[in-house]
Amino acid sequence: MTIIVCPNCSKKYRADTNKLTTRKKFLVRCKTCEHKFVINLEQPALVQPPVVEQKVVEPDYASTPNSSKSPRKICVTLSKGGVGKTTTAVNLSAGLATAGYKVLLIDTDTQGQSSFMLGKKPPAGLTELLTGELPPKETIFPARPNLDLLSGGRSLAGVKRIIDKKSFGSEWTLAEAMEKIDSDYDYVIIDTSPGWDQLTVNVLFYADEILTPVALEVMALHGLSEFIKNLHAIKKYKEIDLKYIVPTFLDTRVEQPKNIYRKLQGLYGDKVCTPIRYDEELSKIPSYGQTIFEFIPDGDGAADYGALVRTIAKNKNILLGGHSSDETSQIA
Ligand SMILES: Nc1ncnc2c1ncn2[C@@H]1O[C@H](COP(=O)(O)OP(=O)(O)OP(=O)(O)O)[C@@H](O)[C@H]1O
Ligand SMILES: [Mg+2]
Repeated sequence: MTIIVCPNCSKKYRADTNKLTTRKKFLVRCKTCEHKFVINLEQPALVQPPVVEQKVVEPDYASTPNSSKSPRKICVTLSKGGVGKTTTAVNLSAGLATAGYKVLLIDTDTQGQSSFMLGKKPPAGLTELLTGELPPKETIFPARPNLDLLSGGRSLAGVKRIIDKKSFGSEWTLAEAMEKIDSDYDYVIIDTSPGWDQLTVNVLFYADEILTPVALEVMALHGLSEFIKNLHAIKKYKEIDLKYIVPTFLDTRVEQPKNIYRKLQGLYGDKVCTPIRYDEELSKIPSYGQTIFEFIPDGDGAADYGALVRTIAKNKNILLGGHSSDETSQIA
C-alpha cells in the first residue's frame, strides 16, 4: 500500500501497489476536487509511504485500467495516409497467427479495410464494444485459425462523437473496454486511421508499442517527425514506445528510396526494420480477401512480412514466406 496525495487539495488516497506495478506512470483524478494529475512511481514526489491510522479513501481506478495477464499491444500507426498501415497490420497479424500465437486484430478505422483485406464482414465489432451494445465477447469474430477480428467501419464515426462528449477519461475508453477481453491473446495488433483524432489518442493510451510504417518517398521523414512530436503529448501521461519503424514501398530499382532508407537508419538506428519492398501482389490482395501468405506464399511480399513477423516475435525460427528476405540483398 502507498499513499497518493492530490497536489491540488492535498487529499490523501491509499493505493494498492499491486494494481500499479505494470505501469510506472499514469493519469489519475482526485475524487474530491476533480483535479487530474500524473503519478510517476519512479519520481515519487506525490507518493508517500503509508501512515498509520490515516483517514483514506480508495482512488478512482477507472482511469488506470490494468490486467494480470497482458498481451503485447502493438499499434500500427502514422498520421500520413496510404503508407501501408492496414497491409502491415493484417499481414503481421496473420503471420503471427500462423506461427501459433493467439492474435486479436483491432480495426479502429472508419474505412473498415482490415476486415475487407481478410475477406470478412463481421456483423458487429469495435462500435458495439465501445458503446456497450453487445457483451464484449460477442463483438469479436474469428477471421483465421488463431486470428480474431474486432472490426472497424463507418459506424465508428458515431463512437468518436460519443468519446468526444465524455467529460472525463475519454482517452481511456478503449483501454477500459479491452480490459475484459485482451488477456485471451498473445498479441493485440491495432490498425489506425490516417490523421490524429480521439480514436487515435485512445489507441495510444491502450497500446504499449508502436509500429510505424513509413513509405520511402520524399516526405517520409517529415511525416515521421511530425508524428513523433504529437507522440510527446501522449508520453506525458503514459509510457508508450515507438519500437519499430517499417520502411514500405521500397523500389529496389531506383536510388532515392534506398537513400531515404539509409537516412532513416542514420536517424533512428535499430528501430528501423528490414523494408517491405514494393510488390504488385501486395496491391492485389485486398480484392481477393487473402493475406499475402495465402495469396503468394513464396513471393517477395510474404518474404518481407515473414521477416517482420520474426523481428516482432523475436524468433528467427518462424518459417513464413518461401524465401528469406534480408536487408543487405535489398539495399545493395
Ligand atoms: N509494399 C507494397 N507494395 C505495393 N502495394 C502496396 C504495398 N503495401 C501496400 N500496398 C497498397 O497500397 C495501398 C495503401 O496501403 P494501405 O491501405 O495498407 O495503407 P494505409 O496506410 O492503411 O492507408 P490509410 O491511411 O488510407 O488507412 C493499398 O492499395 C495496398 O494494397
Ligand atoms: Mg488503412
